Amino acid sequence: MTGQFLRACWRQPTDYTPVWFMRQAGRYLPEYRRLRERYKMLELCRHPELAAEVTLMPLRRFPLDAAIIFADLITPLEATNIPFDLQEGVGPVIAHPIRSPADVDHLYVPDTDEIAPNTLQAIRLVKAELNSIPLIGFAGAPFTLASYLLEGKGTREFTVTKQFMFTETKAWHRLMEKLTKLVVQFVRGQVRAGADAIQIFDSWVGCLSPQDYREFVLPHMKRLFAETADLKVPRIHFGTGTAALLPLLKEAGGEVIGLDWRVALGSAWQSLNFSVAVQGNLDPAALLAPFSFVRERTLEILRQANGRPGHIFNLGHGILPQTHPDQVARLVDLVHEVTSRKETLLS
Ligand code: CP3
Repeated sequence: MTGQFLRACWRQPTDYTPVWFMRQAGRYLPEYRRLRERYKMLELCRHPELAAEVTLMPLRRFPLDAAIIFADLITPLEATNIPFDLQEGVGPVIAHPIRSPADVDHLYVPDTDEIAPNTLQAIRLVKAELNSIPLIGFAGAPFTLASYLLEGKGTREFTVTKQFMFTETKAWHRLMEKLTKLVVQFVRGQVRAGADAIQIFDSWVGCLSPQDYREFVLPHMKRLFAETADLKVPRIHFGTGTAALLPLLKEAGGEVIGLDWRVALGSAWQSLNFSVAVQGNLDPAALLAPFSFVRERTLEILRQANGRPGHIFNLGHGILPQTHPDQVARLVDLVHEVTSRKETLLS
């Protein structure tokens, strides 16, 4: 059955709870690892046929309710004048990070929706193959992108980012404006190419206090959501460590709020007044435990969702590379089976 994922995004009743996984196309799949022996991650992203093939890999194995285009957070930086690399086991690396207001002024953002044309072409190829399963496009949020541009690579503390934000506040807002423009154009291009929904990954924004989110991030996120509202596709707004920020994420925008596993889904949804859809939120590490544990935790999440329209089952963050594909297969089946609206297992 199709259409369940999009219906849930719009908080319409579904026949069962739809399910997909962040990083569902990736290293836990042996067929992905085989392809990676021949191509680097960025080569996969830069060849539309390969990116399309990787996108479809998990769909060939599991009855997932959505696909997500294979690319990376830094893919749209291709359109700028900032060189980057993706290092194995490290993630995005920027050789010459932004360190001054002048560096912000030198950041080039073109005036076009044709951001990362290879990814847009991959979207067209996937759409031609997927009959009725919706395809999710995505982009990193301006804050999360800015953190890579300033730090040069992933970090736990975000001290360089915060120092710049607190000290060079005008330049910070100029940087966020430029990145917002980049993301808006990239999102618009992806929807024009055929994406049925968009996920905005503000993966690292949970490092901020509510006050700093409000001051340094919220105005830009509001603009991002305002300038993509006419596209009429649901937007999933995801971050990790966001327990204290959830009402602000909702204020920023999005039809769906992505929850990580650090919050209880029921009370998190309640704190949003049940007025948006939610996505989540099994701990990805649960999939490394025996399936009886996965089952117990999954049933608890579904109990908390309580059959309300507007729950999309997912993990709280990406699938871990050590995950056995059989666990994923069983989890998809479990969610579908116990939420088939005829069943009573949850009561
Ligand atoms: O969800 C999907 O299946 C779509 C593909 C996708 C990738 N990256 C593929 C990828 C998506 C949505 C992303 C987004 C992304 N990239 C985010 C936001 C999501 C999140 O996890 O919070 C972030 C922070 C990145 C940056 C990044 N790229 C990191 C931290 C890493 C991991 C480094 C490592 O090797 O452990 C990457 C590389 C990356 N992106 C891989 C994949 C499949 C692994 C590449 C490989 O070695 O094959």
